[in-house]
Amino acid sequence: MNKFINTLYTNDNLFILNGLNNESIDLIYLDPPFNSKRFYSAPIGSKSAGASFSDMWSWEDVNESYLEKMFSNYPFLVNFIQSIEGIHGKAMMAYITYMTQRIIEMHRVLKPTGSFYLHVDPTASHYLKIVLDKIFGKSNFRNEIIWQRMTGAKGSQFKAKKFGASTDTILFYTKSDEYHLNPTIKLKENDPVMLKKFNKIDNKGKRYYDDSAHIWRNPSMGDRPNLCYAWRGFNNPHLSGWRLSKQRLEEEYQKGNIVIKDDGKLERRKYFDDYDGKTLDNNWIDIPRAMGGERTGYPTQKPIALLNRIIKASSREGDIIFDPFCGCATACVAAQQLNRKWIGIDIEKQAAEVLVNRLSDDAGLFSNFIHRVDIPKRDDIKKELPSFSIKERLHKEQKGICKGCNHEYLIKDFHIDHIIPKAKGGGDYYENYQLLCGHCNTTKGDRPMEYLMNKVKIQDELLKEKLTFGK
Ligand SMILES: C[S@@+](CC[C@H](N)C(=O)[O-])C[C@H]1O[C@@H](n2cnc3c(N)ncnc32)[C@H](O)[C@@H]1O
Ligand SMILES: [Zn+2]
Repeated sequence: MNKFINTLYTNDNLFILNGLNNESIDLIYLDPPFNSKRFYSAPIGSKSAGASFSDMWSWEDVNESYLEKMFSNYPFLVNFIQSIEGIHGKAMMAYITYMTQRIIEMHRVLKPTGSFYLHVDPTASHYLKIVLDKIFGKSNFRNEIIWQRMTGAKGSQFKAKKFGASTDTILFYTKSDEYHLNPTIKLKENDPVMLKKFNKIDNKGKRYYDDSAHIWRNPSMGDRPNLCYAWRGFNNPHLSGWRLSKQRLEEEYQKGNIVIKDDGKLERRKYFDDYDGKTLDNNWIDIPRAMGGERTGYPTQKPIALLNRIIKASSREGDIIFDPFCGCATACVAAQQLNRKWIGIDIEKQAAEVLVNRLSDDAGLFSNFIHRVDIPKRDDIKKELPSFSIKERLHKEQKGICKGCNHEYLIKDFHIDHIIPKAKGGGDYYENYQLLCGHCNTTKGDRPMEYLMNKVKIQDELLKEKLTFGK
């Protein structure tokens, strides 16, 4: 692979995804538009003034060139997505199709050890979870994380006759069982939870808590003759014995974790410095939304502390973090601060401008990144320019039948076509080639397959389904 450079792309993430290598990313976080039927824009005068994106969906948003992949690899998902039209309407069906096309590619670029966090709200989270169960496999679902983004719902939220909505949902999946996770957070020195738990200070000023309840085993735990011994003049009070072996006890004593106090009693100490951290559950109530100096004004900006937690939990230093809907690039900033590499994509030009400003505010932090608007080319697949041998292979595979009109032709009457047109990010490699007869090839031109299918009006049942899909 080429040398990695932190990169911000301004383009449709589907095209960029298509140009990223297989299994090249360690952690994906995405915070896509939620199909909220709103138009978001940044307040005038804020750092992001002028930035906006729409969150209203129609079939126009679906990239038809990429539908083919969904039809052939996930036929069950196609049935499911079609049923959404009857349940929730066309806009939701278009939105879920749009997301599914991208999630298929995200799954492809994620390493087998990788993790995936999808930030959603209740509008579409239940539909997306089904999509993820199918693409990642239901056994790779790890958590539904609830993030409380505010406390005390605003006045306007009480207008609706329902409870105030103050949480977002983050769906956490992994690509396999072989993933890295550190589910603890280190409490800060002045954290109230830490102050309450580590409530004692030793004569060197270090915080600890008294863990003397764990010097001896409880009699209910049964007799343990091998843990019954005399140590520095102390004896186990009953046959259940000490908690530690004699050797471990002495080691702990030497480290200062077991102390013989002035009153002659033993004390066992747990020091804050040795504490791995608090184990997290899926209910995240301690991270407020982006506030104060952190605010760029970018609509829907997420707090850096949230990304910080996800990145620390599911990656290690040097790992590649990827946010395909990066907005003002909170995930990229957090990744950089934590010594990870990153790739961010946003379709809006304004998002890149905000990011570049955001980074120059953090002088020096971001000297080494590039901003691209072109589509990268995969270098993990061999570029194979259309040739006669490719034509022969395809002819055999297609059994001499045109992918458009379904009629049989001689090899000389076929043309090699790019399934995903080059203009839409499709490349020169075998999987992106098919044979079309001269007529079908001219009809299709630089357009997606769906267009050709519509034109030739094939009667075949499956293809008929494709024709009506979303229309
Ligand atoms: C909810 S915002 C992300 C906010 C981000 N997490 C942050 O902290 O600033 C969603 C973003 O996705 C972008 N977006 C929408 N469709 C896109 C696409 N097809 N490709 C890339 N970005 C897209 C929008 O421009 C918007 O900035
Ligand atoms: Zn044909």
